[in-house]
Amino acid sequence: MSAKIAPSMLSSDFANLAAEAQRMLDCGADWLHMDIMDGHFVPNLTIGAPVIQSLRKHTSAYLDCHLMVTNPLDYVEPLAKAGASGFTFHIEASRDNWDRVSKKVKESGMRVGVCLKPGTPVEEVFPLVDSGDVDLVLIMTVEPGFGGQKFMPETMSKVKALRSRYPSLDIEVQETSFSFSLLEIFRAQVDGGLGPSTIQQAADAGANCIVAGSSVFGAPDPAAVISLMRNSVQTAQAAH
Ligand code: DX5
Ligand code: ZN
Repeated sequence: MSAKIAPSMLSSDFANLAAEAQRMLDCGADWLHMDIMDGHFVPNLTIGAPVIQSLRKHTSAYLDCHLMVTNPLDYVEPLAKAGASGFTFHIEASRDNWDRVSKKVKESGMRVGVCLKPGTPVEEVFPLVDSGDVDLVLIMTVEPGFGGQKFMPETMSKVKALRSRYPSLDIEVQETSFSFSLLEIFRAQVDGGLGPSTIQQAADAGANCIVAGSSVFGAPDPAAVISLMRNSVQTAQAAH
């Protein structure tokens, strides 16, 4: 199961976004995590599809978009057109229409992710994962809205529950024009307060996708932090 380390661009210098993105990729980042906030679902306002579109012109990297918005369905088309790679929406914003959202995301050619706030029970996403449309579950390890908050260790029980229910759920992607199928691994992602002092807990709980903003951008040597987090995930996986 591969480790994916995704620096959160929320902690970057937005005035130099393309250069910051390239700097993170040069430091060994696998994905770039893009925090899209609408000032309504969370009390902060950040970026939208126009920024993703601008960044896409400068990089072919996987743009892992985390939608902290009230109406995720409204943003599927604009983000797909803008060049987003993954579209992770909050279950709290889509309790009535998660099946429509995930189908539309999939049809638009993006990877489907579903996200839970710290107070939302993990059981809420089981029906989505069981539907077979979801590639990734993001367990928030802080309240969404801002970077630089303190990691909440109590959220680890949700990562463990998810991983024990779906140890290595394989999601099959049929390549229709070819006669082979590609096996993909279900991804458990964590976001908020992750860095050298907290990564071990997340890795031991079974997370394999790590989002980290302030610990990476605030480090004198971001490459060392990225590599340390990757090693923690890989070591924990080898021990299981
Ligand atoms: C918070 C965002 C995070 C944030 C993480 O709502 O979803 O991606 O940027 O930042 P750190 O790693 O500083 O907690
Ligand atoms: Zn995020």
